[in-house]
Amino acid sequence: MPFRLNPCAKLAGAALTLSLSVAAHAAGDPAQGEKKFYTCYGCHGVANYKNAYPDYSVPKLRHQNGAYLIAALQEYRDGTRPHATMHAQAASLSDQDIEDIAAYLQGTEAVKPGAAAAANAPKQVAACIACHGENGLGVEAPLVPKPPVLAGQHVDYLEQALTAYRNGRRKNVVMDGMAQLLTSDEDIKIAAAYFAEHPSPLATASTDSK
Ligand code: HEC
Ligand code: HEC
Repeated sequence: MPFRLNPCAKLAGAALTLSLSVAAHAAGDPAQGEKKFYTCYGCHGVANYKNAYPDYSVPKLRHQNGAYLIAALQEYRDGTRPHATMHAQAASLSDQDIEDIAAYLQGTEAVKPGAAAAANAPKQVAACIACHGENGLGVEAPLVPKPPVLAGQHVDYLEQALTAYRNGRRKNVVMDGMAQLLTSDEDIKIAAAYFAEHPSPLATASTDSK
């Protein structure tokens, strides 16, 4: 029945073209991303640069997971993650810009979960390691949404993030509940310090960082 086969072949062809173009779009171009990141170095390229009121370190972005960076920039752009400065920064970025920047920041390979088990993880992080790993480098399982690398991040930034999830200012379907497990400011400090102190490839972006 050639009459029936033909439209099918055409449909399959169209589906193939569509999936190929989606894949090419999602890839992100790191060379373009490096150029587009130019205006971001003013804060993210300065070691220990601080956000003012409240004071906390601007997060390290180099080698952060690409999928997480994409989600973060989209949320700043549409305002679901509230931060006036980052909203202004992300407002003019297209989806392609965001993907290019994420490809540049992550680099060719995402950070791999470390093999070494942490010797004395405090009870405050017992629930966290299922997604963030024992050392804050993540886990092998391909989780969606992709949890960010916590190891090596500025401790005051992690405290700020956990406080924002706990008081509902920053919303995430997973982290809202997780942050409620940290019932005191002391619990937040302990969890943030535990993950921040682990060694990691996470770094301040700089014009010569590769
Ligand atoms: C004026 C300083 C400043 C500039 C310029 C700036 N940022 Fe930020 N960025 C911040 C601060 C402060 C935060 C933390 C905000 C928060 O608490 O949510 C942040 C957070 C982020 C995050 C979230 C990281 C995480 O771990 O969740 C990403 C991604 C990011 N910025 C990307 C960019 C990009 C891309 C640019 C350039 C287009 C840029 N930033 C320009 C100050 C800046
Ligand atoms: C079920 C998986 C899961 C568990 C368990 C989990 N997290 Fe997360 N975590 C995530 C995801 C996904 C995100 C990204 C959320 C977003 O986009 O805002 C995240 C984000 C974070 C951030 C923000 C980092 C940044 O760069 O802004 C911190 C800090 C954090 N988690 C700490 C913790 C701590 C501490 C615990 C345990 C009390 C924990 N998480 C438990 C999945 C998890």
